[in-house]
Amino acid sequence: MQTYASPQAFKQALEQRLKTASSSGVDFGRRRQLLVFDRFLARVMAVLAERHVGVGREGQLLGGQDGLGPVFELLTRWLPHSCVIHGFGYSEVVGPQKAAVPVTMNPDRSHMMPRKIRNPGVRDGKSMPNPISINSANVLITGGSEGIGRGLAARFVAAGARVLVTGRSGERLERVRSELKVETLINDLSRAPEREALACHVREAMPGLNILINNAGIQRRVSLAADTAPWDERQAEIDTLLSAPVHLNHLLVPGMLAHGRSSLIANVTSGGAYVPQPFAPIYSACKAALHSYTMNLRFALAGTACKVVEIIPPAIRTTLAGPGATHGAPLDEFCDAVFAALSQGDAVEIGFGATAGPALQERIALDHKLFESFSGRFPVKTYAP
Ligand SMILES: NC(=O)c1ccc[n+]([C@@H]2O[C@H](COP(=O)([O-])OP(=O)(O)OC[C@H]3O[C@@H](n4cnc5c(N)ncnc54)[C@H](OP(=O)(O)O)[C@@H]3O)[C@@H](O)[C@H]2O)c1
Repeated sequence: MQTYASPQAFKQALEQRLKTASSSGVDFGRRRQLLVFDRFLARVMAVLAERHVGVGREGQLLGGQDGLGPVFELLTRWLPHSCVIHGFGYSEVVGPQKAAVPVTMNPDRSHMMPRKIRNPGVRDGKSMPNPISINSANVLITGGSEGIGRGLAARFVAAGARVLVTGRSGERLERVRSELKVETLINDLSRAPEREALACHVREAMPGLNILINNAGIQRRVSLAADTAPWDERQAEIDTLLSAPVHLNHLLVPGMLAHGRSSLIANVTSGGAYVPQPFAPIYSACKAALHSYTMNLRFALAGTACKVVEIIPPAIRTTLAGPGATHGAPLDEFCDAVFAALSQGDAVEIGFGATAGPALQERIALDHKLFESFSGRFPVKTYAP
Protein backbone atom coordinates (compact mmCIF):
# COMPACT_ATOMS: atom_id res chain seq x y z
CA MET A 1 0.00 0.00 0.00
CA GLN A 2 1.44 3.35 -1.02
CA THR A 3 1.32 6.05 1.69
CA TYR A 4 1.53 9.81 1.12
CA ALA A 5 2.38 12.20 3.94
CA SER A 6 0.10 14.95 2.61
CA PRO A 7 -2.33 15.71 -0.19
CA GLN A 8 0.42 17.78 -1.77
CA ALA A 9 2.76 14.77 -1.79
CA PHE A 10 0.05 12.72 -3.42
CA LYS A 11 -0.56 15.47 -5.95
CA GLN A 12 3.13 15.68 -6.80
CA ALA A 13 3.32 11.93 -7.31
CA LEU A 14 0.30 11.99 -9.56
CA GLU A 15 1.70 14.93 -11.51
CA GLN A 16 4.92 12.99 -11.96
CA ARG A 17 2.98 10.13 -13.51
CA LEU A 18 1.05 12.49 -15.71
CA LYS A 19 4.27 14.22 -16.76
CA THR A 20 5.79 10.92 -17.79
CA ALA A 21 2.67 10.18 -19.73
CA SER A 22 2.74 13.65 -21.24
CA SER A 23 6.26 13.20 -22.48
CA SER A 24 5.14 10.08 -24.31
CA GLY A 25 3.65 12.43 -26.87
CA VAL A 26 -0.07 12.45 -26.08
CA ASP A 27 -1.91 15.75 -26.41
CA PHE A 28 -3.91 16.16 -23.19
CA GLY A 29 -6.12 18.72 -24.83
CA ARG A 30 -7.78 16.07 -26.99
CA ARG A 31 -9.67 13.54 -24.97
CA ARG A 32 -10.11 11.04 -27.78
CA GLN A 33 -6.38 10.45 -27.97
CA LEU A 34 -6.31 9.44 -24.33
CA LEU A 35 -7.42 5.98 -25.30
CA VAL A 36 -3.83 5.17 -26.21
CA PHE A 37 -2.94 5.31 -22.49
CA ASP A 38 -3.28 2.57 -19.98
CA ARG A 39 -6.90 2.48 -18.86
CA PHE A 40 -6.38 4.11 -15.52
CA LEU A 41 -4.60 7.20 -16.76
CA ALA A 42 -7.02 7.55 -19.65
CA ARG A 43 -9.90 7.53 -17.23
CA VAL A 44 -8.17 10.03 -14.94
CA MET A 45 -7.71 12.43 -17.81
CA ALA A 46 -11.22 12.05 -19.17
CA VAL A 47 -12.86 12.65 -15.81
CA LEU A 48 -10.60 15.59 -15.07
CA ALA A 49 -11.55 17.11 -18.40
CA GLU A 50 -15.26 16.60 -17.65
CA ARG A 51 -14.81 18.43 -14.35
CA HIS A 52 -12.92 21.28 -15.86
CA VAL A 53 -9.75 20.46 -13.96
CA GLY A 54 -6.99 21.33 -16.37
CA VAL A 55 -3.80 19.40 -16.88
CA GLY A 56 -0.85 21.45 -18.04
CA ARG A 57 1.54 20.27 -20.70
CA GLU A 58 4.02 19.31 -18.02
CA GLY A 59 1.42 17.17 -16.31
CA GLN A 60 0.58 19.58 -13.48
CA LEU A 61 -3.02 19.70 -12.22
CA LEU A 62 -4.64 23.11 -12.57
CA GLY A 63 -7.67 24.61 -10.84
CA GLY A 64 -10.60 22.84 -9.17
CA GLN A 65 -9.90 22.94 -5.42
CA ASP A 66 -6.19 22.51 -5.96
CA GLY A 67 -7.01 19.83 -8.50
CA LEU A 68 -7.49 17.29 -5.74
CA GLY A 69 -11.22 17.02 -5.15
CA PRO A 70 -12.08 15.40 -8.46
CA VAL A 71 -8.92 13.33 -8.34
CA PHE A 72 -9.86 11.79 -5.00
CA GLU A 73 -13.34 11.17 -6.17
CA LEU A 74 -12.40 9.29 -9.28
CA LEU A 75 -9.53 7.44 -7.65
CA THR A 76 -12.05 5.84 -5.33
CA ARG A 77 -13.42 4.17 -8.39
CA TRP A 78 -10.49 3.83 -10.75
CA LEU A 79 -7.21 3.49 -8.94
CA PRO A 80 -5.86 -0.03 -9.59
CA HIS A 81 -4.32 -0.21 -6.11
CA SER A 82 -5.13 1.55 -2.82
CA CYS A 83 -3.15 4.27 -1.19
CA VAL A 84 -3.36 6.21 2.09
CA ILE A 85 -3.19 9.99 2.11
CA HIS A 86 -2.50 11.77 5.40
CA GLY A 87 -2.65 15.43 6.21
CA PHE A 88 -6.16 16.90 5.82
CA GLY A 89 -6.81 16.56 9.52
CA TYR A 90 -7.70 12.98 8.75
CA SER A 91 -6.29 10.11 6.73
CA GLU A 92 -8.06 8.87 3.66
CA VAL A 93 -7.73 5.60 1.87
CA VAL A 94 -8.54 5.74 -1.81
CA GLY A 95 -8.76 2.85 -4.19
CA PRO A 96 -10.28 -0.63 -4.20
CA GLN A 97 -9.29 -1.78 -0.69
CA LYS A 98 -10.93 1.18 0.99
CA ALA A 99 -13.21 -0.91 3.16
CA ALA A 100 -10.42 -3.12 4.46
CA VAL A 101 -8.22 -0.34 5.80
CA PRO A 102 -8.93 1.65 8.97
CA VAL A 103 -9.14 5.40 8.41
CA THR A 104 -8.84 8.07 11.07
CA MET A 105 -10.98 11.10 10.50
CA ASN A 106 -11.35 14.32 12.40
CA PRO A 107 -15.08 14.99 12.30
CA ASP A 108 -14.56 18.75 12.39
CA ARG A 109 -12.85 18.63 9.03
CA SER A 110 -14.99 15.93 7.45
CA HIS A 111 -16.91 18.40 5.33
CA MET A 112 -13.65 19.29 3.57
CA MET A 113 -13.41 15.87 2.01
CA PRO A 114 -14.70 15.53 -1.51
CA ARG A 115 -17.63 13.19 -1.32
CA LYS A 116 -18.82 10.80 -3.92
CA ILE A 117 -22.54 10.29 -3.66
CA ARG A 118 -23.54 6.73 -3.39
CA ASN A 119 -27.23 6.93 -3.87
CA PRO A 120 -28.25 6.26 -0.27
CA GLY A 121 -30.81 3.50 -0.16
CA VAL A 122 -29.42 1.91 -3.29
CA ARG A 123 -26.14 0.01 -3.39
CA ASP A 124 -24.88 -2.02 -6.32
CA GLY A 125 -28.23 -1.48 -7.97
CA LYS A 126 -30.02 -3.03 -4.99
CA SER A 127 -31.90 -1.15 -2.34
CA MET A 128 -30.94 -1.29 1.30
CA PRO A 129 -33.60 -2.21 3.86
CA ASN A 130 -34.98 0.50 6.08
CA PRO A 131 -34.71 -0.60 9.70
CA ILE A 132 -37.57 1.65 10.93
CA SER A 133 -40.17 -0.30 12.88
CA ILE A 134 -43.45 1.14 11.75
CA ASN A 135 -45.34 -0.18 14.78
CA SER A 136 -43.27 1.96 17.14
CA ALA A 137 -42.78 4.92 14.82
CA ASN A 138 -43.64 8.53 15.67
CA VAL A 139 -45.08 10.02 12.51
CA LEU A 140 -45.89 13.59 11.46
CA ILE A 141 -47.96 13.95 8.30
CA THR A 142 -48.55 17.51 7.15
CA GLY A 143 -51.89 17.95 5.44
CA GLY A 144 -53.20 14.72 6.93
CA SER A 145 -56.85 15.69 7.19
CA GLU A 146 -57.74 14.80 3.61
CA GLY A 147 -56.65 12.79 0.60
CA ILE A 148 -53.22 11.17 0.46
CA GLY A 149 -52.13 12.39 3.90
CA ARG A 150 -55.23 11.02 5.54
CA GLY A 151 -54.92 7.73 3.61
CA LEU A 152 -51.33 7.28 4.80
CA ALA A 153 -52.24 8.31 8.37
CA ALA A 154 -54.90 5.57 8.50
CA ARG A 155 -52.35 2.96 7.43
CA PHE A 156 -49.70 4.08 9.92
CA VAL A 157 -52.25 4.04 12.76
CA ALA A 158 -53.44 0.57 11.75
CA ALA A 159 -49.81 -0.62 11.88
CA GLY A 160 -49.46 0.65 15.46
CA ALA A 161 -47.64 3.94 14.88
CA ARG A 162 -48.28 7.15 16.80
CA VAL A 163 -49.44 9.74 14.25
CA LEU A 164 -49.76 13.52 14.34
CA VAL A 165 -51.53 15.19 11.42
CA THR A 166 -51.86 18.88 10.60
CA GLY A 167 -54.10 21.04 8.44
CA ARG A 168 -55.76 24.44 8.36
CA SER A 169 -59.36 23.37 8.92
CA GLY A 170 -60.22 22.49 12.52
CA GLU A 171 -63.41 20.80 11.37
CA ARG A 172 -61.61 18.43 9.01
CA LEU A 173 -58.99 17.69 11.65
CA GLU A 174 -61.64 16.93 14.25
CA ARG A 175 -63.22 14.45 11.84
CA VAL A 176 -59.95 12.67 11.15
CA ARG A 177 -59.07 12.70 14.85
CA SER A 178 -62.27 10.95 15.86
CA GLU A 179 -62.29 8.53 12.92
CA LEU A 180 -58.64 7.51 12.89
CA LYS A 181 -57.44 8.11 16.46
CA VAL A 182 -54.64 10.39 15.36
CA GLU A 183 -53.30 13.46 17.15
CA THR A 184 -53.99 16.74 15.38
CA LEU A 185 -52.75 20.30 15.24
CA ILE A 186 -54.38 23.20 13.43
CA ASN A 187 -51.52 24.75 11.52
CA ASP A 188 -51.11 26.76 8.32
CA LEU A 189 -47.79 25.74 6.79
CA SER A 190 -47.78 28.58 4.30
CA ARG A 191 -46.82 30.90 7.18
CA ALA A 192 -43.28 30.79 8.63
CA PRO A 193 -44.31 31.55 12.27
CA GLU A 194 -46.76 28.63 12.16
CA ARG A 195 -44.05 26.32 10.86
CA GLU A 196 -41.95 27.36 13.86
CA ALA A 197 -44.93 26.74 16.16
CA LEU A 198 -45.37 23.27 14.65
CA ALA A 199 -41.69 22.48 15.25
CA CYS A 200 -42.02 23.63 18.89
CA HIS A 201 -45.10 21.45 19.31
CA VAL A 202 -43.24 18.42 17.93
CA ARG A 203 -40.22 19.02 20.17
CA GLU A 204 -42.50 19.07 23.21
CA ALA A 205 -45.21 16.58 22.35
CA MET A 206 -43.41 14.16 20.02
CA PRO A 207 -39.64 14.39 20.61
CA GLY A 208 -39.19 10.88 19.21
CA LEU A 209 -40.45 11.94 15.77
CA ASN A 210 -38.81 9.60 13.27
CA ILE A 211 -41.06 9.73 10.20
CA LEU A 212 -41.85 13.10 8.65
CA ILE A 213 -44.08 13.16 5.58
CA ASN A 214 -44.15 16.58 3.91
CA ASN A 215 -47.44 16.10 2.16
CA ALA A 216 -49.61 19.24 2.57
CA GLY A 217 -50.42 20.81 -0.75
CA ILE A 218 -52.74 22.98 -2.79
CA GLN A 219 -52.93 23.34 -6.52
CA ARG A 220 -54.01 26.52 -8.28
CA ARG A 221 -55.28 25.47 -11.68
CA VAL A 222 -54.68 28.62 -13.68
CA SER A 223 -52.45 29.18 -16.69
CA LEU A 224 -49.68 31.79 -16.61
CA ALA A 225 -51.52 34.05 -19.06
CA ALA A 226 -54.79 33.86 -17.14
CA ASP A 227 -53.34 34.35 -13.65
CA THR A 228 -54.42 37.76 -12.40
CA ALA A 229 -54.73 36.79 -8.72
CA PRO A 230 -53.25 39.10 -6.08
CA TRP A 231 -49.64 38.23 -5.34
CA ASP A 232 -50.44 37.06 -1.78
CA GLU A 233 -52.55 34.25 -3.16
CA ARG A 234 -49.83 33.23 -5.60
CA GLN A 235 -47.13 33.47 -2.95
CA ALA A 236 -49.19 31.22 -0.65
CA GLU A 237 -49.07 28.43 -3.23
CA ILE A 238 -45.28 28.68 -3.44
CA ASP A 239 -44.96 28.83 0.34
CA THR A 240 -47.21 25.82 0.92
CA LEU A 241 -45.53 23.66 -1.69
CA LEU A 242 -41.89 24.71 -1.36
CA SER A 243 -41.08 26.98 1.59
CA ALA A 244 -43.00 24.71 3.98
CA PRO A 245 -41.07 21.45 3.45
CA VAL A 246 -37.72 23.24 3.22
CA HIS A 247 -38.32 25.20 6.43
CA LEU A 248 -39.91 22.34 8.35
CA ASN A 249 -37.08 19.95 7.50
CA HIS A 250 -34.59 22.58 8.59
CA LEU A 251 -36.40 22.91 11.91
CA LEU A 252 -36.97 19.21 12.57
CA VAL A 253 -33.91 17.43 11.18
CA PRO A 254 -31.64 18.26 14.17
CA GLY A 255 -34.09 16.61 16.58
CA MET A 256 -34.52 13.60 14.31
CA LEU A 257 -30.75 13.13 14.24
CA ALA A 258 -30.29 13.83 17.96
CA HIS A 259 -32.42 10.94 19.21
CA GLY A 260 -30.33 8.52 17.17
CA ARG A 261 -33.14 6.25 15.98
CA SER A 262 -33.50 5.40 12.31
CA SER A 263 -35.65 8.02 10.69
CA LEU A 264 -37.23 8.92 7.39
CA ILE A 265 -38.26 12.09 5.60
CA ALA A 266 -40.65 11.66 2.69
CA ASN A 267 -41.28 14.66 0.45
CA VAL A 268 -44.39 14.40 -1.71
CA THR A 269 -43.70 15.80 -5.18
CA SER A 270 -45.72 15.01 -8.31
CA GLY A 271 -45.45 13.77 -11.88
CA GLY A 272 -45.71 17.51 -12.60
CA ALA A 273 -42.22 17.90 -11.12
CA TYR A 274 -40.89 16.08 -14.16
CA VAL A 275 -43.39 17.10 -16.86
CA PRO A 276 -44.48 20.72 -16.38
CA GLN A 277 -48.25 21.09 -16.52
CA PRO A 278 -49.47 24.24 -18.34
CA PHE A 279 -52.76 24.15 -16.38
CA ALA A 280 -50.81 24.37 -13.09
CA PRO A 281 -47.50 26.03 -13.95
CA ILE A 282 -46.50 27.38 -10.53
CA TYR A 283 -47.50 24.11 -8.87
CA SER A 284 -45.31 22.23 -11.38
CA ALA A 285 -42.41 24.60 -10.81
CA CYS A 286 -42.64 24.18 -7.02
CA LYS A 287 -42.75 20.41 -7.32
CA ALA A 288 -39.74 20.44 -9.68
CA ALA A 289 -37.90 22.54 -7.12
CA LEU A 290 -38.95 20.14 -4.35
CA HIS A 291 -37.57 17.22 -6.37
CA SER A 292 -34.24 19.05 -6.76
CA TYR A 293 -34.18 19.98 -3.08
CA THR A 294 -34.97 16.38 -2.11
CA MET A 295 -31.89 15.14 -3.96
CA ASN A 296 -29.76 17.63 -2.07
CA LEU A 297 -31.42 16.78 1.23
CA ARG A 298 -30.60 13.11 0.59
CA PHE A 299 -27.00 14.11 -0.11
CA ALA A 300 -26.88 16.24 3.04
CA LEU A 301 -28.21 13.40 5.19
CA ALA A 302 -26.13 10.59 3.65
CA GLY A 303 -24.11 8.91 6.36
CA THR A 304 -26.76 9.65 9.02
CA ALA A 305 -29.60 7.49 10.30
CA CYS A 306 -32.11 9.61 8.39
CA LYS A 307 -33.19 8.38 5.00
CA VAL A 308 -34.84 10.62 2.40
CA VAL A 309 -37.59 9.41 0.08
CA GLU A 310 -39.50 11.16 -2.68
CA ILE A 311 -43.13 10.13 -3.17
CA ILE A 312 -44.24 10.94 -6.72
CA PRO A 313 -48.01 10.66 -7.09
CA PRO A 314 -49.56 10.65 -10.55
CA ALA A 315 -53.12 12.04 -10.75
CA ILE A 316 -54.95 10.59 -7.73
CA ARG A 317 -58.66 10.96 -7.01
CA THR A 318 -58.63 13.50 -4.18
CA THR A 319 -60.00 16.99 -3.67
CA LEU A 320 -56.70 18.61 -4.71
CA ALA A 321 -58.00 19.54 -8.15
CA GLY A 322 -61.11 21.16 -6.63
CA PRO A 323 -64.62 19.99 -5.83
CA GLY A 324 -66.15 17.55 -8.31
CA ALA A 325 -62.85 16.42 -9.87
CA THR A 326 -63.10 12.69 -10.42
CA HIS A 327 -60.05 11.92 -12.52
CA GLY A 328 -57.01 9.99 -11.37
CA ALA A 329 -56.12 6.66 -9.79
CA PRO A 330 -58.10 5.39 -6.77
CA LEU A 331 -56.78 6.90 -3.54
CA ASP A 332 -56.79 3.62 -1.57
CA GLU A 333 -54.79 1.74 -4.21
CA PHE A 334 -52.22 4.52 -4.26
CA CYS A 335 -51.96 4.72 -0.45
CA ASP A 336 -51.68 0.91 -0.15
CA ALA A 337 -48.78 0.92 -2.60
CA VAL A 338 -46.98 3.89 -1.00
CA PHE A 339 -47.42 2.53 2.52
CA ALA A 340 -46.10 -0.89 1.44
CA ALA A 341 -43.05 0.74 -0.15
CA LEU A 342 -42.40 2.92 2.92
CA SER A 343 -42.74 -0.08 5.25
CA GLN A 344 -40.47 -2.23 3.13
CA GLY A 345 -37.91 0.54 3.28
CA ASP A 346 -36.18 -0.20 0.01
CA ALA A 347 -37.31 2.75 -2.09
CA VAL A 348 -35.61 6.05 -2.81
CA GLU A 349 -38.39 7.28 -5.08
CA ILE A 350 -41.90 5.90 -4.88
CA GLY A 351 -43.97 6.21 -8.02
CA PHE A 352 -47.30 4.67 -8.96
CA GLY A 353 -48.93 4.02 -12.34
CA ALA A 354 -47.61 6.60 -14.76
CA THR A 355 -44.94 7.81 -12.33
CA ALA A 356 -43.60 4.27 -11.93
CA GLY A 357 -43.41 3.73 -15.71
CA PRO A 358 -40.23 3.34 -17.76
CA ALA A 359 -40.15 6.92 -19.12
CA LEU A 360 -40.02 8.53 -15.68
CA GLN A 361 -37.75 5.85 -14.30
CA GLU A 362 -35.26 6.59 -17.07
CA ARG A 363 -35.46 10.29 -16.33
CA ILE A 364 -34.92 9.69 -12.62
CA ALA A 365 -31.99 7.36 -13.29
CA LEU A 366 -30.41 10.07 -15.45
CA ASP A 367 -30.97 12.64 -12.69
CA HIS A 368 -29.12 10.38 -10.27
CA LYS A 369 -26.30 9.76 -12.71
CA LEU A 370 -25.77 13.45 -13.42
CA PHE A 371 -26.09 14.35 -9.76
CA GLU A 372 -23.53 11.72 -8.86
CA SER A 373 -21.03 13.02 -11.36
CA PHE A 374 -21.35 16.68 -10.31
CA SER A 375 -22.13 16.61 -6.62
CA GLY A 376 -18.56 16.08 -5.47
CA ARG A 377 -17.24 19.04 -7.37
CA PHE A 378 -17.33 21.51 -4.50
CA PRO A 379 -17.10 19.86 -1.09
CA VAL A 380 -19.91 20.99 1.23
CA LYS A 381 -20.82 20.59 4.85
CA THR A 382 -23.36 17.84 5.44
CA TYR A 383 -25.27 16.52 8.45
CA ALA A 384 -23.02 13.45 8.62
CA PRO A 385 -21.06 13.26 11.88
N1 LIG B 1 -54.07 14.17 -5.88
C1 LIG B 1 -53.22 14.24 -6.89
O1 LIG B 1 -53.58 14.03 -8.07
C2 LIG B 1 -51.77 14.56 -6.63
C3 LIG B 1 -50.86 14.36 -7.67
C4 LIG B 1 -49.53 14.68 -7.45
C5 LIG B 1 -49.13 15.15 -6.21
N2 LIG B 1 -50.04 15.33 -5.22
C6 LIG B 1 -49.55 15.87 -3.95
O2 LIG B 1 -49.98 15.07 -2.88
C7 LIG B 1 -50.10 15.88 -1.71
C8 LIG B 1 -51.45 15.64 -1.07
O3 LIG B 1 -52.45 16.05 -2.01
P1 LIG B 1 -53.91 15.45 -1.99
O4 LIG B 1 -54.23 15.06 -3.35
O5 LIG B 1 -54.06 14.48 -0.90
O6 LIG B 1 -54.71 16.80 -1.66
P2 LIG B 1 -55.97 17.08 -0.73
O7 LIG B 1 -56.88 15.93 -0.71
O8 LIG B 1 -56.49 18.40 -1.17
O9 LIG B 1 -55.31 17.21 0.72
C9 LIG B 1 -54.42 18.27 0.98
C10 LIG B 1 -54.15 18.32 2.47
O10 LIG B 1 -53.22 19.38 2.69
C11 LIG B 1 -53.74 20.25 3.68
N3 LIG B 1 -53.26 21.60 3.44
C12 LIG B 1 -53.40 22.38 2.36
N4 LIG B 1 -52.80 23.56 2.52
C13 LIG B 1 -52.26 23.54 3.76
C14 LIG B 1 -51.52 24.47 4.53
N5 LIG B 1 -51.21 25.70 4.07
N6 LIG B 1 -51.10 24.11 5.77
C15 LIG B 1 -51.40 22.89 6.26
N7 LIG B 1 -52.10 21.96 5.58
C16 LIG B 1 -52.53 22.30 4.35
C17 LIG B 1 -55.26 20.12 3.54
O11 LIG B 1 -55.95 20.48 4.73
P3 LIG B 1 -56.58 21.95 4.91
O12 LIG B 1 -57.20 22.33 3.59
O13 LIG B 1 -57.55 21.82 6.01
O14 LIG B 1 -55.44 22.83 5.25
C18 LIG B 1 -55.36 18.62 3.29
O15 LIG B 1 -55.27 17.91 4.52
C19 LIG B 1 -49.89 17.33 -2.16
O16 LIG B 1 -48.56 17.73 -1.88
C20 LIG B 1 -50.10 17.25 -3.65
O17 LIG B 1 -49.43 18.25 -4.34
C21 LIG B 1 -51.34 15.03 -5.40
